[in-house]
Amino acid sequence: MTAQNGILQTGEGERPFPRHIAIILDGNGRWAKKRGLPRVAGHAVGVETLRKIVYYCRDIGMDYLTVYCFSTENWNRPQDEVSGIMKLLVKYLSEAIKTMEQRRIRLRVFGDLSGLSPEILELIERTNEISSRFEGFQTNICVNYGGRDEILRAVNRYAEDVRAGRAEGELTEERFASYLDSAGVSDPDLLIRAGGEQRLSNFLLWQCAYSEFYFTDVLWPDFTPEELDKAIAVYQRRDRRFGGIKA
Ligand code: FPP
Repeated sequence: MTAQNGILQTGEGERPFPRHIAIILDGNGRWAKKRGLPRVAGHAVGVETLRKIVYYCRDIGMDYLTVYCFSTENWNRPQDEVSGIMKLLVKYLSEAIKTMEQRRIRLRVFGDLSGLSPEILELIERTNEISSRFEGFQTNICVNYGGRDEILRAVNRYAEDVRAGRAEGELTEERFASYLDSAGVSDPDLLIRAGGEQRLSNFLLWQCAYSEFYFTDVLWPDFTPEELDKAIAVYQRRDRRFGGIKA
């Protein structure tokens, strides 16, 4: 399948193309265990898979890819796994700083940044600065992220604006969304979960109100562009009504 003018050609006529795909990268641990490797080795291969999928999403003309890399609950994992994931994040962001402008990949990090190390914060500042220089495809990496936590942080920021007299009038959905980490980013059209589980695990709770869900047993390190094509093809056969009725 190839994307042309924002529409993926399926051979069965033109169907709507997802502008924004969100992915829960699950199954790294099981992938490693099956091979007798430490869990962190699964995460390392998971990052390579992520890299391929990011390039593919950019190449087929998507606007956004949002990936769940580390949740607010993942701190409860063994210390070596947590520090392994953080090291991979440092490596990913450091490499991105060198190549993202040339590769036309903007980056943003969603999550409670106050829980991240100064080293990671510095890297995020630099990727934000580079992202502000150009337009186009954007990858959103969710780190120390929880959907409920994001909503609460937004509520608290809004309350601060109210107290300071900066927020007048009704709070609309649109205005509330501007307080979320995803401010300015369209809602995901399609949410994919790799790794066989069928749940949302506190991911993008506000933003996925009308997303189409696609679950696959493929473990994240084994995920390929062809798997993404399959998910997009399924999405293109769905009938999105947003609470209305079919025209
Ligand atoms: C879920 O698999 C995966 C995670 C909790 C971490 C995902 C992280 C990465 C792909 C690497 C970090 C990303 C970047 C950008 C550096 P799991 O460990 O829950 O797998 P399991 O369900 O098989 O145990």
